[in-house]
Amino acid sequence: MKREGVRIVSVTAYDFSFARLLDKAGVDLLLVGDSLGMVIQGHATTLPVTLEQMIYHTAAVVRGASRAMVVCDMPFGVCHGGGVATMDAAVRVLKETGCQAVKLEGGVYMADTIRFLCAHQVPVLGHVGLTPQSVHALGGFKVQGRGADAERILADAVAVAEAGAFAVVLEGIPVSLAQRITERLDIPTIGIGAGRWCDGQVLVMHDLLGLYEAVVPRFVKRYLPENTVPQAVGRFVEEVRSGQFPAAEHGYVDSLVAGA
Ligand code: KIV
Repeated sequence: MKREGVRIVSVTAYDFSFARLLDKAGVDLLLVGDSLGMVIQGHATTLPVTLEQMIYHTAAVVRGASRAMVVCDMPFGVCHGGGVATMDAAVRVLKETGCQAVKLEGGVYMADTIRFLCAHQVPVLGHVGLTPQSVHALGGFKVQGRGADAERILADAVAVAEAGAFAVVLEGIPVSLAQRITERLDIPTIGIGAGRWCDGQVLVMHDLLGLYEAVVPRFVKRYLPENTVPQAVGRFVEEVRSGQFPAAEHGYVDSLVAGA
């Protein structure tokens, strides 16, 4: 899709019925995100989510998907043991759910683990920038890669790509940095709060439907109540494909002074 210039549409899903609806609407990639810890379970962060819970939700999503690729997020604490430990967890995920790939948060420090999984035939989606599992280390859910920090995020994205990831999520980084990374990598970038130049976009389903009120970041566009739920999802698919979403107001700029 990157080579053909077709924008990739991804939405998070956590259960059978919504997976079916999103699949029918033409979403390409259903991400069973550990964001379920916040939008389903009501925690303040994603950290409490367990591997068992991810397997439970991913299996339900797989049953609802007849066309879209399904990716399971590896929750906090599962990937710190290196390649073999992470591979053991990934084998469980693939065997017990039927999904096609796993997602790992982290750049340079996670590259060896990603390389090990890819060498052992487990497709990996990377995730760099504002990685929510690092919320405490980052001092909150803060935009990353502003100023000199941009080089660190670029190095993270390159490390993930060189390790063999098939695509990488860019979260919460300036639009210009996401553009640089997208031009630099052969693999697709899938943005969330990373602006319009990414090869695809992902949103948390509860955000695009306006169902999660605890935090509403500027990159979120709500497609309800003007539409029914299937229309809202269809509209999101159309707007990502056509490049209408995200608009300038959904992106972050380089400097804290120049923008939020
Ligand atoms: O957990 C999640 O839903 C995610 C996406 C927001 C990229 O990681």
